[in-house]
Amino acid sequence: MEGRLPVWLRGSLLLNGPALWDLPQASYRHWFDGLAMLHRVQFDEGRVSYRSRFLQTEDYRRSIASSAPAFAAFDTRDPESFLERLKHFGKPRVTDNAAVVMSRIGDRWFATTEGPLLVGFDPETLQTRPTLALEDDLGVQLMAAHGITDSKGSYWNVGVTLGPKCAYKLFRLQPGARRRELIGQVRLPKPGYTHAFAMTPRHALVWETALRAQPLGFLLTGRSYIHNFKWDPVHGSMLHAVSVGDGSVRSWEVPPMVAFHAIQAYEQGDETVLELIVYDDPEIMDALLLERLRSGAPLGVTPRLMRYRLRARGEVTMENFGQGLELPQVHPARWARAKATVAWGTLLGNPSSPFFDATERIDLASGERRSWRRGTAVQLEPLFVPRPGADNEDDGVLLVPTLADGDVGSMIAVLDAETMECLAMVKAPQVIPFGYHAAWAG
Ligand SMILES: [Fe+2]
Repeated sequence: MEGRLPVWLRGSLLLNGPALWDLPQASYRHWFDGLAMLHRVQFDEGRVSYRSRFLQTEDYRRSIASSAPAFAAFDTRDPESFLERLKHFGKPRVTDNAAVVMSRIGDRWFATTEGPLLVGFDPETLQTRPTLALEDDLGVQLMAAHGITDSKGSYWNVGVTLGPKCAYKLFRLQPGARRRELIGQVRLPKPGYTHAFAMTPRHALVWETALRAQPLGFLLTGRSYIHNFKWDPVHGSMLHAVSVGDGSVRSWEVPPMVAFHAIQAYEQGDETVLELIVYDDPEIMDALLLERLRSGAPLGVTPRLMRYRLRARGEVTMENFGQGLELPQVHPARWARAKATVAWGTLLGNPSSPFFDATERIDLASGERRSWRRGTAVQLEPLFVPRPGADNEDDGVLLVPTLADGDVGSMIAVLDAETMECLAMVKAPQVIPFGYHAAWAG
């Protein structure tokens, strides 16, 4: 380690992401396809320790045993033959390779991807625990990777029902429960690609991207996940607000877009405001194919930061307040609870850069940005850890895994979240492959 860690920084940075793309007999095609590995960087009174483990899923075990992908992945076809698929006609096999997000339900931790499975793990040992055995009839085939845990430890998320009748289903799962409670649903012909959703204390906000599901493709073919969605700009996109109180739904039509993440949502007077990171087309999906990433060519895709103000009777106004930010986050006490004025994220779309290459702080009122770079190192999602007892929203540190040519292992930067100065640099003993989301286990 170089520099000085804040004495108050005590707890674990948890990271999830793919870590294995090439098996002896065959390889995955897309960054989002790889087999999941969990990492833990533990901070304790100035000392740091590291551990990692592959998530021991059925997909992992069978793929390792057969030396090739055993399940369909984001952009990799299902290896099952047509005859094998006929045996479970209409009930597609779902991967448990939960390589994207980690969430807490009560005091238990689960890893997720965009399927409906909650794969348990121990945040200390990183050992895989059983997948949560749900006993309900919610009937969802897909689920946003990002759920939201409320102050009571209950888990909220949006599932997608595919079939002759499709729906987004907002549900809540209480700690220890095995039944997801349906809070409200949005019925629609073809749901959009759904990676996350946002909440205010009164509403869940679901963005219906114009990359729309082909329900029969999901149910009957062995196509890869993303090839069961079709870009459909003609029908635009929709924003849906589901009332947490009575399940009622209001919807607004907006120009066609694709989006993964919201910065936040909040209520202001009679407006519900959604700050979303949007792409004008689905090019980002192909831009993240491994072949293209490994070529080192510039990504060539830049998202825009859009603020949608949603009012009664379908009225919506839009404001573009910046560009080139991804993997956003706000103070954890503000997310889904109150309006944040500061956010952090990683820079995407620098024309000369092949990938994320800076960590940014954005003032959400003025749009002012502050950046931190480490040469041309790639940077992953910054995790904000608030200083215990702090009053200011940006009083804390950002933990940022970085990797540059020539590094023996990943370098985890500890930044002052207000000034964006680097306080310390922690050297991991191995490369932490580029993953997606982080969590803090205090
Ligand atoms: Fe995500």
